[in-house]
Amino acid sequence: MASLQSSFTVLLTTPTARVPPSQLAVTKRCVVSCSGGGGVDRRNMLLGLGGLYGATSLVAGRKAEANPILPPDLSTCDPKGAWTTKNGEVVILDVNCCPPFTDVQTDYKLPRVTKPRVRPAAHRMSPEYLAKYELAIKRMRELDVTDPDDPRGFTQQANIHCAYCNGPYDQIGFPGIDLQVHNSWIFFAFHRWYLYFYERIMGELIGDPTFALPYWNWDNPRGMQMPPAFDNEGSSLWDINRDPAHRPPALVTLTLTNPPVTDPVQIIANNLTQMYKEMIGDVESAIDFMGDPYRAGDAPPGRASGGSSEGGSHAGVHVWTGNPANDNREDMGNFYSAGRDPIFYSHHANVDRMWTIWKDIPADYSKDINEADFKDAAFMFYDEKKKLVRVKVADCLDYNKMGYKYEHSDTPWMAYRPAQRALPVDIKKLSKKAETADKLFPLKLTKTVRVLVPKPSKGPADEVLVLEKIVTDSTKLIRFDVFVNDEDDKPQELDRAEYLGGFTQVPHRARAQESASDLRLNLKELYENINIADDDAIVVTIVPHINGDEVTIGGIKIIPRVAA
Ligand code: C2O
Repeated sequence: MASLQSSFTVLLTTPTARVPPSQLAVTKRCVVSCSGGGGVDRRNMLLGLGGLYGATSLVAGRKAEANPILPPDLSTCDPKGAWTTKNGEVVILDVNCCPPFTDVQTDYKLPRVTKPRVRPAAHRMSPEYLAKYELAIKRMRELDVTDPDDPRGFTQQANIHCAYCNGPYDQIGFPGIDLQVHNSWIFFAFHRWYLYFYERIMGELIGDPTFALPYWNWDNPRGMQMPPAFDNEGSSLWDINRDPAHRPPALVTLTLTNPPVTDPVQIIANNLTQMYKEMIGDVESAIDFMGDPYRAGDAPPGRASGGSSEGGSHAGVHVWTGNPANDNREDMGNFYSAGRDPIFYSHHANVDRMWTIWKDIPADYSKDINEADFKDAAFMFYDEKKKLVRVKVADCLDYNKMGYKYEHSDTPWMAYRPAQRALPVDIKKLSKKAETADKLFPLKLTKTVRVLVPKPSKGPADEVLVLEKIVTDSTKLIRFDVFVNDEDDKPQELDRAEYLGGFTQVPHRARAQESASDLRLNLKELYENINIADDDAIVVTIVPHINGDEVTIGGIKIIPRVAA
């Protein structure tokens, strides 16, 4: 399963009285039948059936068949379907994120590529390029006012994200089970298609078919601040709902520690470590990077099911950018609102770039997922001519065929494997400072704990540490980190052999349909880094950074990776 640095990257959907002006301008968009059962009743019914368990048993018999995620039926998008929970109650968000509906839909055919669009690094855009970008966003924003039902408008585009993440779409054939594009293997493909049409719409609105979306190059120290173009209050790229403490030259933190790291050298070291681990060091399979399988009828995948990149740098940048003073960390810190910040699309261009780079890094496992349930998963989008089209995951796997590429930028994280320890720790001595699992678990993570965990085999085997049955309050931001055989007490320094990985939960809507999930962290490379010798146990340190008291971990164990 996926997940190192795992997290959930979903957006928050807690209720808010504050309706952003952009939302007020939007008229009801469900032109045909807005069925869907009216939000609350539908959910209550599901909960009454036993929530997750009732729902999954309905589909248990279908698991063996071909079961790709199907594109949503726009006619049943529920305008009151965006929801969250508060104090255990289902609360409907005051946001209608349903797209306009038309029943004319076609299967999308990729146009023949003559000359690829080249996506530039946002911090290196020329003034002429920036002017084009600003004009494109300005035209999209104008559509919000002149024709709020034009699916190419800025708010309409932002709402795509809300509709696919916060509950307005049920899966076809599975009433009451949300369609969710995060925390699974469809994450990269959905967002690649989303940006593809967004980019073509921008090009169309400014009459430039070569226009390409700039990427926020946060994996390179030169791009580790908000690109200045976005930080200009007079620009169409400006968004008021960002963390005011994170304006340039503040450095982005891909990992969250509490207290936050302030030394710029340490921030960059932590970021590069995170990049190295989520792209290379901690990834032992395509699923580790891409995320767990997600098939038709599955309950929305839980927070530990996303891939290493989704739960790592991707989540980190969302949280870092959103304003903590806003109810739901709007805009970027939350799925229903993330698309309202123009920087979202440049953030995701870099996430997509990471996918292209990962594919090309030599590895001893296959980078392809060949299952039909992966390749046949499909989505609906409006193209640049306002045509509703159906797209498949299979058709986006080769981005060259989609007609874009990325301007080169160096990737110094590739060489950022932590230095190996010369000598192993004295495990006997260290274990005196640790407890045994049966004394500690189930564990409420109110403080740092050290636990001695036995290994199934001695020495540097291909093994996985499993933190079992993690239960959290899903409306809270959560972060904890995990270290192995760590004698030092330096939880802010991640660029060390002893750092294994972390867990970030971006707050999101209810988890009524989600179950407790396991966090799996690959140990193979860490064993080499810490020079484990032939020890038959390790000492695991779990450090809560943010809202540890909202986390319960059911158990802890080490298993061979093949069994994971
Ligand atoms: Cu759809 Cu960055 O999330």
